[in-house]
Amino acid sequence: MLHAVYFKKSNLGEWCISYMNKYVNSETFELESKKNQPAFIPAADGQPYAMFVGFVFNMLRFGKPVKDSANTNIFEHAGRVFAIAENHLPYEINIDSLETLRPYNINGDWEQPFTSHPKKVCSSGELVIMGINPQKPHYLVGVISSDGQRLLHKVDLGFEEAKFIHDIGVTTKYNIIMDYPLRFGISRTLQQKPIFDNDMNGKSRIGVMPRFGDAESIRWFDVENHCSYHLFNCFEDENEVIVRGCRTLGSVIPGPPHNVDNLNWYKRVFSPQDKNSEGFDPSLDGILFSRPYEWRLNLESGITCEGYITNEDVAMDFPVINENFTGIRNKYGYTQVVDSIATSKTGLFKYKMIAKLHFEEPDKENKKFISVEYHTLQDRQFCSGVKFIPKKNGRDEDDGWVITYVHDEGTNISQVYIIDAKRFSDEPTAKITLPQRVPYGFHGNFFYK
Ligand SMILES: [Fe+2]
Repeated sequence: MLHAVYFKKSNLGEWCISYMNKYVNSETFELESKKNQPAFIPAADGQPYAMFVGFVFNMLRFGKPVKDSANTNIFEHAGRVFAIAENHLPYEINIDSLETLRPYNINGDWEQPFTSHPKKVCSSGELVIMGINPQKPHYLVGVISSDGQRLLHKVDLGFEEAKFIHDIGVTTKYNIIMDYPLRFGISRTLQQKPIFDNDMNGKSRIGVMPRFGDAESIRWFDVENHCSYHLFNCFEDENEVIVRGCRTLGSVIPGPPHNVDNLNWYKRVFSPQDKNSEGFDPSLDGILFSRPYEWRLNLESGITCEGYITNEDVAMDFPVINENFTGIRNKYGYTQVVDSIATSKTGLFKYKMIAKLHFEEPDKENKKFISVEYHTLQDRQFCSGVKFIPKKNGRDEDDGWVITYVHDEGTNISQVYIIDAKRFSDEPTAKITLPQRVPYGFHGNFFYK
């Protein structure tokens, strides 16, 4: 379901604000609507053979193994807006009515799913995409023209196995390819293996690929093994390419293994790692404690320098930046801050604060790390869908607002918070009370018209 808040200014300068929601009318949603009941067997979690049977039933009945959930992100390209999850094509949405228009396959040239995090190249307006697939080709990169009408480039990177990679980066000249050992595929269930399996002893690498390059022209850099879903930004700095993301060691998908105490599992994976604690288990403790991280890839020497850039005692994820700086050096990033305790109690991600990261400002107490500011929510309030909106005529990178949905579990009231990014810790500039609850979701977005 899409939840939209519209801001319109009248000729008299008064704001008119309205709220609307609507289900994405995906092919599978339409199918279930006609039956007036859920019809797909949930097949992403469970015992391996049961999952396989679920997939087969879904394929036989509907021609698709899982639903088109369209629930991960909403993005804009060439003035058009699309709802996306990475297991299906994006669905184009009429942003005024929230009506679903059609799947977007770039005039038939792209027939497999693509990432929930496509990146627009600031200088050209082109959109860089990638698609992962359990079948070959396992990883494709594409470049869509700035008018959204043509697929300018499509290349198979020749991955030997399917990896569940969530994000891609761009710099002015390069596409930045994340590769980590989070394997996935339904055929795995026939060997009694889970559909998703992160190999914590596996190998990770980052590829630097010329924008219109191919598998052979990628320069690969080995990095410490990780399983990081989200990037802040990437940019070139003389001989180096700098990649910043929120690094985790484990994967949140598929969640706790069967036959374990879920609450204990969540508590341990979301807590900061303490290698000296009693009973420390490196495959469990702190593996989802995500922290901002920097990889510096030296194109001349081939050497990678990497490390955490904050030393905060809270987990941060869902990074956003001022997108006018995508692919070029930027000074600020914003993340949602995990409430580890609330999350561990429910197994549902809950975010109690928003962080503003000052990439170029050292922390006052420890100059090795960068400075971080927080916007704290009240007790029992949680946010989702955080987004940075640049002011139209802004001068500085942080001239703008951080906007988010906030739900208060005490009062059951949902609001939109608009926070001035330059006065980040202060009370929000505006709090807009919504007529109904907006559930916690994944990524949000904002579009000027
Ligand atoms: Fe994401």
